[in-house]
This record gives sequence, structure tokens and C-alpha cells, in this order.
Amino acid sequence: MSEDVRIEGRDEEPLVEALAEEAEATTTAAPGDRVEELRAQIRYHAERYHQDDAPEIADAEYDALVMELRRLEEEHPELASDASPTVQVGAPPSPAFAPVRHSVRMMSLDNAFSFEELTAWGQRLERLLADVGSDAERGQVAFVCEPKIDGLALSLRYESGELVRAATRGDGVTGEDVTANVRTIAAIPHRLALPRGEIPGVLEVRGEAYLPVSAFEELNRRQEQAGLKRFANPRNSAAGSLRQKDPAVTASRPLSFFAYQVGEADGGAAGPSGAALATHSAALELLARAGLPVNSSVEVVHDLDEVYAYCHRALEHRHDLDYEIDGSVVKVDDLALQRRLGSTSHAPRWAIAYKFPPEERTTLLEAILISIGRTGRATPFAQLRPVVDAGSTVGLASLHNEDQVRLKDVRAGDTVIVRKAGDVIPEVVGPVLAQRPADSSPWVFPSTCPGCGGPLVRLEGESDTYCVNVDCPHQQRQRISHFAARSAMDIEGLGEQRVAQLLAAGLVHDVADLYSLELGQLSGLEGFAEISARNLVAAIDASRSRGMTRLLVALSIREVGPTIAAALAGHLPDLDALVAAGEDVLAAIDGVGPTIAASVVAFFASERNRAVLDKLRAAGVDLSSDRYRPPDASGEPSAVGVLVGKSVVITGSLERFTREEAEAAVLERGGKSPGSVSKRTFAVVVGAEPGASKLTKAESLGIPQLDEAGFVHLLETGEAG
Ligand code: IVH
Repeated sequence: MSEDVRIEGRDEEPLVEALAEEAEATTTAAPGDRVEELRAQIRYHAERYHQDDAPEIADAEYDALVMELRRLEEEHPELASDASPTVQVGAPPSPAFAPVRHSVRMMSLDNAFSFEELTAWGQRLERLLADVGSDAERGQVAFVCEPKIDGLALSLRYESGELVRAATRGDGVTGEDVTANVRTIAAIPHRLALPRGEIPGVLEVRGEAYLPVSAFEELNRRQEQAGLKRFANPRNSAAGSLRQKDPAVTASRPLSFFAYQVGEADGGAAGPSGAALATHSAALELLARAGLPVNSSVEVVHDLDEVYAYCHRALEHRHDLDYEIDGSVVKVDDLALQRRLGSTSHAPRWAIAYKFPPEERTTLLEAILISIGRTGRATPFAQLRPVVDAGSTVGLASLHNEDQVRLKDVRAGDTVIVRKAGDVIPEVVGPVLAQRPADSSPWVFPSTCPGCGGPLVRLEGESDTYCVNVDCPHQQRQRISHFAARSAMDIEGLGEQRVAQLLAAGLVHDVADLYSLELGQLSGLEGFAEISARNLVAAIDASRSRGMTRLLVALSIREVGPTIAAALAGHLPDLDALVAAGEDVLAAIDGVGPTIAASVVAFFASERNRAVLDKLRAAGVDLSSDRYRPPDASGEPSAVGVLVGKSVVITGSLERFTREEAEAAVLERGGKSPGSVSKRTFAVVVGAEPGASKLTKAESLGIPQLDEAGFVHLLETGEAG
């Protein structure tokens, strides 16, 4: 039993079950009433999901409602009904599309939310096989394991090799005609690529249409630029993109497709052209030969242990892919056996979906608050009722800026959908409008700073709002902690708490005051033993010699991070030369440009900032460049490192370097380390849990990918590979 699929603090109980039980525990209604209530809720949410492509609750919460209903129906068989959503599939097709009657019903899948439930399915299968299977079949059953793609199901009908009809699943009996839209999907062939003699009269291919994660992110970037609402997730945007009246809209969204099943086929369900297919894996091979995309991580395995191992791997690597998966699908490989096992009212007995723990949850948004950063930027964030999401508790989530809050229209008191995917920071996806309190009103960006009470100002044409009071205590705390951070002056032992203490005691007012701190002043403070005070003074002292690049990073100049700091320090011998240089000189430096140059000039135009610089100089802090090399006699700049002019992107975590250290190592050798891959990227360093879109882009552009050893080699030689 794996720990990964469990949620802490839940008594080893899978989350969806816990949610279902929680709902039951809080319900006192008679079972008949509760069953009716659940059916109405489930129907309502199935329509929002399938018809509107705009779900109002997280998938896990929907699954919990279905599970509770199923339990009640099992406990009270007299309440069972053929019209119950536990018996039905999906939702009725929308009248906006022509109806298509499926010649073979499109079923749903039963879910397993834990390995125990997967085992229970395996044992049920064994019992069934004892009844229906032959001796050989009772011995060993092969399974096909596949990723469960989180998109929307499609049926593609090919007649004499030509694509004649494409339909959504609808309620499993009748779907929606989306042929014109599907013809715009490049991954779906209009003609089967089989030799003439092998082309079946009818071949109905089933599979999942999806939007790649990178395309989804790009689509949301465009939506944002156009001042439009972001899409909640790739599934909804795929479904919304496909179920369009105008195929041109579908064509503008790079949808893709994975085939996972043969539906109707002449030669019967046994396979096309009478060439009886014996196994599901052979059917997938045929689909691949016919030019349909079949997922490359499909595997045939031979027992349940191998099934568990597959599901484990899939869960571990779910975020390495450029498409979303919400579980693994396990199918009996033998088609004759599939037929004998048959189906229940809504799902085949020969398959099961192992569902991953949910990454989306709903919770209460208690308040929208403002945090003040080191440059004075005021960032709104959501204070949430703590909720367990993807295995960790989420209580806070950034809302980025005023426009984002307005576009999402989230308000205090709203129930919101929260999402935490992999190592990504938790995000508020949007409000559940159906649960909005009647008296709620739109959130308004506050006009005063929570730290100093001064005005918050949003400049013309900018999306960010700032506290413009440089003495604001919140800004000071952030600025001084950032000055001391590992990626800046690297003063060990000086975290945010300690900075707050020093500020409160009036011992420091700006970053330069750190250098005049004395042992006696520190040891009087709470929690400062003599040894830690001594260590801190020594750490501050050691930071005097970090040099210009780190100092520039440490000063909290807007727009200046390690890459820009390195570019500036590479062209100017010291900070005084930088202060003296005009905007034009700075803007001409490779990678700097006019906006950043203006920001640097504005920073040093401030008398107060120049006074800090003077204090730093007086305290013996080294202002000279650690990167500058004067031009040699030929007028050509001499080589300053093995990575000059090379751009190295780092993704995922490395063992021997933090992200800052890895980037600093590239910069120290004259290279750049931007956050995204482009055709100018020299190499991509791939650590554990890398970003899917970076990998895909690197692959598509043929850029060398290095592991940690390769990175070390690159740092030593400047060579990739
Ligand atoms: S097989 C009768 N295989 O999951 C079984 N379904 O929750 C037909 N899905 O409606 C489905 N990936 O839309 C199958 N590899 C896969 C799948 C898959 C995603 C979807 C499909 C289905 C839903 C059931």
C-alpha cells in the first residue's frame, strides 16, 4: 500500500471516500430524501461539466456525491432506479448540435480511488473469471495499462477509410455531431493510413481529445492580454474549444487526440475486416498503424502487482507530460474475455479507472489581503479556510494583481476552487458562483497600505500597484531580508523573523545599518544566545566582499535580478561607474534595454538610495565588479568565461545546487539563465520533476538536455555533451 495515494491525517482513508463520509455524517435526512437530493445535485453538476464545460465543483467533490449515492442505493435497494445518475453516463447532448446515435453504447468507467479498491476490482474479476473464463484464462490474465487522459471522449467514424462523422459521448446513447470541428484537429487523420486491402468498411475509433498543457498556458496568456477571463483548466478549455458553433474557433486552438478503443468495426467487435483482433493491445497497434495517435506509455502487464507499479509510476510522473492525466485505466487485454465479462448498467466489468488523488478542491475564501514586497509592490492574496490539496494543506494563495482579481471576480465569502498541481504554487482557479452569498460585492483594491497606512498607487499602463513610502515597515522588512538572502549577500542566520526583531528594536533602518551592528546590541535581544549573535556578526562581516553582481541583486532595484545584475557588472567596473552612467549607456548593454535602464537610473536618482550606497561604501562593502574585464589591446573584449554568450535553461531540482546556485554558476561563467526555452537556448539542464512545457519545447527545437553530471561538465568546459 502506497503512502502517496493517501492524505495525511485522514486515518489512511482515501480523500474522496472521506469527503463522501463527511457529507453523510452531516446529513440527517431520511435516505429516500437524501437520494433524491443527491440525484438532483449530481444531474445539475453533470450538466455544468458536460454541457457548459464550466464545472462549479471540483472533480473530487463530484465523485464524492456519486459515491455517497451509490452507497445509499446499495444499502437501500428499494430506492434504486434506472433513471439514477449512477446508472447513466455523462449528460444529455446539447440541442445546439445535431444528435448522433452511437451504434455501440459509449460507456463510462468505474473508479478506484485507492490501491485497496483496485485490489477489490482484481478480486471481483477473479471471481467472475471462475464463472466465465476457460481454464487457461483463470490462470493468468494480461492487462493493458493506459494513462487516463483528462479531456473529452470522441467517437470517430471511418467508412471505407474516410472520416465521415465525429461525435461527443453525450449520455452514452446519443452524442453531439462535432464533425466539422474535429476535422480541424491536425492529429486526427481524415483518411486511414492502411494498405488498400486492409481498409475496413466501418471502423469507429474512440479516444480522448485534449489541449496540451503548453497550449493551454499560451491560450490563457492570450486571454489575459486581451483582458479576457482565463480558462480554468485544460479539460474545460478543450471541451469548450471543441463544442463550438464555428469550426474556425476550434481550428485556432491546437487540440490533439489519443485513440484508446475500437468501437463499431465490421467483422464485429472482434475486429475490422474480419481479421479478428484477439486483444485490445492488438487493436491499439492497428489504430497506430492506421495513423491515429496512440499514447506511448500504454503497457501490457501480467499481474496486479505490475498494475500497481504502473499506476505508481504514472502518478509520480503525471506532471512530466504535456497533457493532463487524472489517473490510469486498466483493461483486460483479451477481447473474448472482455465480451464474456460484459458490463454493468453504465461501465464495463473488464476495465477500471484508478483515479489519482485530487489536485482541485473547493474551500471558503475568508478574506482577500495585501502583502507588500521589497520594491513596494502590493500583491493581493487569498486567505483560505485550510484545505488538504494534493497531499499538503493550502491556506494562502496569491491572486497576483488587481486585474487578475477582477477577471476571476473572487470575493470574500465565496466558495472557490483551489488547485495545486505538482510543485506548482497553489492557485485560486475561480469562484463557485452558485454558492455566492446574496450580499457579496466585488472586491476593491484598498487605497492605503496595510503596513504604513500610506497611499497605494497604480501607475498608468502598469498592472501592479505600489506602496510608494520607502519607510514603510513592511517594505523595509522585505528589503532587508532580501538583501541577506542566499541569492543576494548570503548572510546566514538573518531570516525574516530576525530582521523584524532588528527593525522593532530600532537597531537597523536600512540595509547599510547591518554593517554597524555590534555584538552587545544583538545579545540583548530575545532568542539571541552569545554564539548566534557572534555568528551573525561574522556572517555580516563576510558579506562585505560579495562584489557588485550580488550587491546589485541585493539592493531591490525594480527589474534587476541575477541576469541583469550580471550584465551590468560585466560592462561596468564598479557601482560608482554605474551610478555615473547615463540611461543610454545602460540601455545599450546586451539584455538590459530602456525599461530596465530607466528603473536603474531612477533608483540611484533617489537621494536616499545614494545615501545608503555611501553608507555601504563607508562600511567597507566591496562595490567593485566581480565580472568586469577591460577590453584588451585589440579592442575586443577578452573571454570572460566558458559560457559567454550561451543561454542555459534550468528546470527541475538538482541535488548539488539550489536553483539560485545553479543560475549563479552559469552567470559567473559569463552565460545567461533565462526562465524559458527558445531557439537561442544552448542547453537545458534537467533535474528532478522538470517543467513539462520546457522539456517539450527543448525536444521540439532539438536543444541538448543535460543531467546534473552533464551540467557540471558544461560548467567546466562550456560544452554540452
Ligand atoms: S476506455 C468503456 N481509456 O475516461 C470504456 N477511457 O471516466 C471506455 N478516458 O469516458 C473508456 N483516457 O472519456 C478509456 N485510456 C483511456 C481513457 C479513457 C481517458 C476517459 C473517457 C471515458 C472516461 C471515463
